[in-house]
Amino acid sequence: MDSSEKETILFVDDEESILSVSSEYFQRKGYQTRTARTGDEALRILSDERVDCCFTDINMPKMNGLELAEKIKNLDNTMPVIVMTGYPSLENTIQTIKNGVVDFLIKPVNLKQMELSVQRVMQQRNMFVENILLKKEVEGKQRLENLNQELMVKVKELNILNKIMSQFTAIGSSNDVFKRAVDLALTIAHADRTGLYVINEALQEPVQVSSSALSSGLCTRPGSAKVCQVPPIPFGGNSPPVNSTLIMEVVSDQIPLLIAQNKANNGLPAEIKSAMIVPLKIRNKVFGVITAMVTQGAKRFSEKDLYYLSFLAQSAAQAIENLALYENIYENLFATLYAFVKAVEARDLYTQQHSSRVTGLSIVIGKQLGCTKEELDILYFAGHLHDIGKIGIRDDILLKPGKLTEEEFEKIKAHPVIGANILEQLGLWERERQIIRCHHERFDGTGYPDGIRQEDIPFLARILSVADVYDAMASDRAYRKKMADEVILKIINEGNGSQFDPAVVAAFNQAYTDGKITRYMQTGEIN
Ligand SMILES: [Fe+2]
Repeated sequence: MDSSEKETILFVDDEESILSVSSEYFQRKGYQTRTARTGDEALRILSDERVDCCFTDINMPKMNGLELAEKIKNLDNTMPVIVMTGYPSLENTIQTIKNGVVDFLIKPVNLKQMELSVQRVMQQRNMFVENILLKKEVEGKQRLENLNQELMVKVKELNILNKIMSQFTAIGSSNDVFKRAVDLALTIAHADRTGLYVINEALQEPVQVSSSALSSGLCTRPGSAKVCQVPPIPFGGNSPPVNSTLIMEVVSDQIPLLIAQNKANNGLPAEIKSAMIVPLKIRNKVFGVITAMVTQGAKRFSEKDLYYLSFLAQSAAQAIENLALYENIYENLFATLYAFVKAVEARDLYTQQHSSRVTGLSIVIGKQLGCTKEELDILYFAGHLHDIGKIGIRDDILLKPGKLTEEEFEKIKAHPVIGANILEQLGLWERERQIIRCHHERFDGTGYPDGIRQEDIPFLARILSVADVYDAMASDRAYRKKMADEVILKIINEGNGSQFDPAVVAAFNQAYTDGKITRYMQTGEIN
């Protein structure tokens, strides 16, 4: 290979040994390498030479790796930057997203790991380029192109967040963060009782969402020597753990409160000897507090305890912000994907709302079959997105009123696979992806794309298939009026055991007899 065709990697680290070892390894693997000991040196190289990928340490004197990543992003936002650090922290990982870093490795990093990371980010960049080529095919459809671009950004964003979140695997929900915070507060502050309150904005009062207390013999839990969960104590009761007025004062002042000794008129119930109330803030907005108190013994809280509790509150708030960010992106991503589907539907006047109706019908049939809440959620997602793969099909085929040629039909038949591939890039929603792929499979194995049969077809896909066919026949099309219900029912029952799963057909018939299908089609109401 000509040296000018080799991919060039830039390594930035203030440790000479890391530079030489990495450089030598990657040269052996067929890459060109450049090295820099400081951020400034790296930027000089980047402005003079072609570089395809950059590895940087975070902790470096003068300009740190994250500042460098940000500068690189401003210089060339397609350049993949991989950061490495020996001290991963939540602050750093959040900062990395903002600075456009595409991968994050924790030291000690072995060379093989670095190589895999390079391959991964290069592949992602190539996918991005391929996507641009694909977009050319739908020229003139500016709206679709914009959506597509937005989708790719979200895919990338979500991939990074997913990676980061996997490092905080134990924290799966805000409740986990709350629970972890109160347990930890109990230990670090040597308190008898801790609580976490979220402010109800409408009522302007605190609501306890988690608490922890030292065992007083009333509560025992195997494997836990001291700590046990206590039920929330409502305010206004006989012995509130702390005064809600005090909590609201801390919320409005935004300053942690330390009551070292309980004296008359300081607002604490008599049984509390010492207390701390610390605000929980996200971007300068207080959304709750953590409280700690001593109810027995000689211990009294100190400034140091207040410092520790404040630090803990800050970390908990950051973890919650991180979760909120993640959940928000997750929701946004679904909205973006569904906007794609609506864009496809908008191309054909007759298919508008098709996906939304198929979703509703699937849920009616799913409920008839006793599906769980989780299965109904999957149907909701897969139903809305089942035809997303049609985004890649040209208008003259998709909207053709007459009979399709064999070749045209082959193109249409690709849509379940294209749809499944779009979700695959996200590495998420595996069950939904399978359903989208299989919604045109037939029970007897003569469907597409895989020709699988019976139980090999995911159960929820077998439900979606009946709903899809029913809605297609029950709606007007460019080339025909909607069909009468008796005819549709006859066709669906003729497909019992060949096209459709008999169990699903039976549930569909029952739902139809009970009037649930007609009611849904007329009012959108799901029983
Ligand atoms: Fe379809």
